[in-house]
Amino acid sequence: MRDDASETAVAETVLIQRLPDRVVVTMNRPDKRNAIDLATIDALHSVCTELEADPRTLILTGAGGVFASGADIAQLRKRRAADARKGINATAFIRIRELPMPVIAAIDGYALGGGAELAYAADLRIGTPTLRIGNPETGLGIIAAAGATWRLREIVGEARASELLLTGRILDAGEALAWGLVSSLHPGDELLSAAHALADRIAANDSLATMHTKRALRASREQHPAIELELQAELFESPEKERRMTEFLEKRSRR
Ligand code: COA
Repeated sequence: MRDDASETAVAETVLIQRLPDRVVVTMNRPDKRNAIDLATIDALHSVCTELEADPRTLILTGAGGVFASGADIAQLRKRRAADARKGINATAFIRIRELPMPVIAAIDGYALGGGAELAYAADLRIGTPTLRIGNPETGLGIIAAAGATWRLREIVGEARASELLLTGRILDAGEALAWGLVSSLHPGDELLSAAHALADRIAANDSLATMHTKRALRASREQHPAIELELQAELFESPEKERRMTEFLEKRSRR
C-alpha cells in the first residue's frame, strides 16, 4: 500500500483503500466467490457518497482471484416482486456508472451475473487470462436486471449482447478481449498495477476536463452537440486550460 493511503473494511465484505486521487474497492468474500450481498451493496453506496462529494477515480476489483460470482443467490432466492422493483443492485450500479470521475474494473477470474453487470458499469475494464465473464441468469430463472440488457449492448453491440444474454454463455479472456469487453489482459499479479497505471494517466490530465469528457460520453444522442459545446465553453474559461496551454507553448518557444 502507498504511504499516503488509508484502508478500512466496511463489514469486511469490501476493502477500501483511499489515495489522494483514487479509491480502490476490493470485494472481499472469497469464500463465497465475492457474491454480491446486501452488505456489499451498502458498502458500494457509501463509496459512491464519498466519491460524489470528493470526485476521484475508482478502481473496482475482487480478492482471491475472483471479481464477483454474481448477486448472492442465497439472498436472491428469498426476494419477491417488491424486492425486484426496488432494483437493489441496479440502483447501486447506475450510481457507480454516474460517478463524476472514471471507474476502472480490474477483473480477475469470474465476473458472472451481477458481477459482470458491475463490470459493465465501469468506464474502463481490464482483465487477466483467467477472466470468465457472462450472464447465466436465465439458467436461474431470472433476467439480468442490473444493467446488462442496455449496458452490455452499448459495449459490444446488440448481436453479441443478445447472444450472451439469451444463451447464458460465458466468455473466456481471449473472447472478451476480441469483443472489446475488456481493453487489455495482464497476468494476475500485474492486474492491479495495470489498473493503477490507467489511473496515473487519468491523474496526469485535468480532472475537470476528464469529468466533462465522461459527462459528454454519457449523454444521450439528442443532447449532442449542445452538451459538449457547453462543457467546452466552461473549460475555455478555466485557469487550468490557460495554464496547460501556456506551458505547452512556452516550452516550444524555448526550444
Ligand atoms: N451466490 C451465493 N453463493 C455463491 C455464489 C453466488 N453467486 N457463487 C458462489 N457461491 C458460494 C458457493 O455456494 C460456495 O459456498 P459453500 O462453500 O458455502 O458451499 C462457495 O461460494 C464456493 O463456490 P463453488 O461453486 O464451490 O466455487 P468454484 O470455484 O467451484 O466455482 C463459480 C465458482 C463462480 C463458477 C460458481 O460458484 C458459480 O457458478 N457460482 C454462481 C454463478 C452464478 O450463477 N451467478 C449469477 C448469479 S445472478
